[in-house]
Amino acid sequence: MTETPTPVTAPEPPADVVQLMNMLTGGAVVQILHAVVRLNVVDHLADGPRTAKEVAGREDSHEGATYRLMRAAASLGVLSYEGDGRFGLTGRGQLLRAGVPGSLRSLLLIQAGPSHWGPWGLFPEAVREGASQVRKVLGEDIFDYYGRPENAETARVFADAMSDMSALVTHGVAARADVRGATTAVDVGGADGHLVLTLMEADPALRGRVLDLPHAVEGAIKEAERRGLSDRFTGVGGDFFTEVPAGDLHLLKTVLHDWDDERCTRILSNCRAASREGGRALVVETIVGELGKPDFAALSDMAMLCVTGGVERDLNEFDALFAATGWRRGRTYPVGGGYSCMELEAV
Ligand SMILES: C[S@@+](CC[C@H](N)C(=O)[O-])C[C@H]1O[C@@H](n2cnc3c(N)ncnc32)[C@H](O)[C@@H]1O
Repeated sequence: MTETPTPVTAPEPPADVVQLMNMLTGGAVVQILHAVVRLNVVDHLADGPRTAKEVAGREDSHEGATYRLMRAAASLGVLSYEGDGRFGLTGRGQLLRAGVPGSLRSLLLIQAGPSHWGPWGLFPEAVREGASQVRKVLGEDIFDYYGRPENAETARVFADAMSDMSALVTHGVAARADVRGATTAVDVGGADGHLVLTLMEADPALRGRVLDLPHAVEGAIKEAERRGLSDRFTGVGGDFFTEVPAGDLHLLKTVLHDWDDERCTRILSNCRAASREGGRALVVETIVGELGKPDFAALSDMAMLCVTGGVERDLNEFDALFAATGWRRGRTYPVGGGYSCMELEAV
């Protein structure tokens, strides 16, 4: 008589192991998405499903490796598998195309490219030294690097990435911010000026300015033209550590988080000097929340430490900066994408 073997069920690894394994693949996921974009897979699939052979033929890439990439992207839900060796584009994958509403392509290219990915490779040193690793990788600070003529294309992608992120929050700011009575809004470090231009679209009497580094301000001028707002708009190339243009509504969106307290004090003081008593400012940042809870700001803070040398702050830390520079915080509310708007009044 033969014995029936007892079915063996493999024990599941403990939940902590599974979760940690998923975290460990984070870096691989970024580079899989990077390759999907760099090899234009999302564009090759824009008008319908294709096989890896077809994509590799169009892209002149290795067929087997292209298939493996597309299989991995399908396992992440970026591509779908349609049968017969054909892969299609999912809604998530669509967001990696250029020029589609809500595109995150430029943000990915910056995150996975040399100015960010390089410093992340040295992240433990950033913690040991309490300092950005950008100089070790690029030989200079990040905004100096973007300002070099030979890096104009990367700087353009960075400005596009800022626009990608702005799209997540500017309508939330325009819907909730109390900007009644303001006549001139100055978007300080405004890149392509999405925030000020969105506020100008909502208020036909509002005039707008973008102050940004000379290499970056051209994008704002073009964006104002594109939106038909040039007659109310001025682009100003300059340095917010030296001087900020006059206005009665200063906008600082994801600018303060790039800098330490001493440099934030200079920026906020220059904004205060360019405002008037009762003048207002809107500061849009992610705000560090309760310790021990999942927190986008606490994670973003690590990128600030490693890449720009800046810091994400909690409300007390923001209030200390505002009080030291002649500003008082009023209403504060979420505006989407993990970001909040803090309304300030000049005192
Ligand atoms: C993180 S980006 C934020 C851009 C924009 N406010 C947004 O949220 O889309 C920081 C911006 O500050 C600008 N910037 C950096 N240093 C500057 C300086 N010294 N003077 C003026 N702008 C500067 C950069 O060129 C960049 O556009």
